[in-house]
Amino acid sequence: MSAQLSSPTDAATEPLVVTTRDKLADALDRLASGRRGMRRTAFVPTMGALHAGHASLLDEARGRGDLLVASIFVNPMQFAAGEDLSRYPRTLDADLELCARHGVDVVFVPEAEVVYPGGRPWVTVDPGPLGDLLDGASRPGHFHGVLTVVAKLFGLVRASVAVFGEKDYQQLVLIRRMVSDLCMPIEVVGVPTVRDRDGLALSSRNRYLSPDERRAALVLSEALLAGVAAGHHGSAGVLAAAEQALARQPTVALDYLALRDVDLAEPPRTGEARLLVAAKVGSTRLIDNAAVNLGAGASR
Ligand code: PAJ
Repeated sequence: MSAQLSSPTDAATEPLVVTTRDKLADALDRLASGRRGMRRTAFVPTMGALHAGHASLLDEARGRGDLLVASIFVNPMQFAAGEDLSRYPRTLDADLELCARHGVDVVFVPEAEVVYPGGRPWVTVDPGPLGDLLDGASRPGHFHGVLTVVAKLFGLVRASVAVFGEKDYQQLVLIRRMVSDLCMPIEVVGVPTVRDRDGLALSSRNRYLSPDERRAALVLSEALLAGVAAGHHGSAGVLAAAEQALARQPTVALDYLALRDVDLAEPPRTGEARLLVAAKVGSTRLIDNAAVNLGAGASR
């Protein structure tokens, strides 16, 4: 298999860039028939402004398929009125270079009319009760837009496996749930959050932060670390430790700090749980989360 991938015809690192549904289908068919024995397409959906976090998704996906497809599409349906759709960073040339460096075969870069011909679809994916919690509470309709576009992209790319980041933990949980509840024939893989050396989770939105704001934003990962370290004190101890850390940075406007079970459905008991935080730093909304192990016998 690896011999096929490094054969002269595949040696070109430039990915095929396609912008329409037909060209995507052609490219997938052509590459599939050119690779004997190819069975698995791996897919990484993104909104562009790619960074090392996206790159780690691509690397994970590369090892899980014979053909690697990425999409770059700033999905209007997941932005509420007044959110940052129009100022969302767009860095296509650099994104394509990153895709080339990470072995992407096909990059799908559609315009909104290609994904949403005729405007907003009549039939959409309802995220159910999990869609109203946490980020869904602060961003009404957000996960409705995310799941609808991901379902559409799954339909267009027809991959065997899709890779998402734990950075957007609620998104990952909801996509797993959609795939399971709607019997979609695709495997969903989650990848740990990639951070800067000082702990700040990489995000396309970090580029909006001034140097002072970036320093202040560090309190989010520090609060998570403090919470994780207090796991043996149980949930109240975890939340208290994280709150105490957040209080050190009053310029950061907390949206939520929450401790849930790993499926986000219930409050946590002992064992594996997830600590999630969202806050505005200046005008930039940031989210982060971490796995917490709650000590036995300390669930309150
Ligand atoms: P975007 O924010 O571009 O993120 C694309 C993927 O990269 C998501 O799975 C996200 O969790 C992952 N990611 C972002 N930052 C990361 C980091 N620091 N470490 C690891 N992974 C990271 O999420 C979206 O786009 C959209 O909602 C999308 C799923 C494409 C639907 O429009």
